[in-house]
Amino acid sequence: MTSRDSAARSLAELPSASVTVYPDGPLVVRGNFAIKHVDGTDIPSGTTVALCRCGRSAVKPFCDGSHSRATRTRSGQDAGSNSAS
Ligand code: FES
Repeated sequence: MTSRDSAARSLAELPSASVTVYPDGPLVVRGNFAIKHVDGTDIPSGTTVALCRCGRSAVKPFCDGSHSRATRTRSGQDAGSNSAS
């Protein structure tokens, strides 16, 4: 087997998945993929998951909708968090 054959086989073995970035929301992953803890153990998931990227979810790494309760701007500031009144 040549290194080219090996590279082609490696590409064929890659999972096929897509990631959609939702503004101020989760990363939605669709397709054939695996999610693992840092120790390599599997995190059960289906073929479509929403991954939290705001840090507010109670069910990390998955999104639980908490991002919508505290809308953040793309600059990273909480909307309406200015306590000066
Ligand atoms: S992105 Fe939805 S809870 Fe964090």
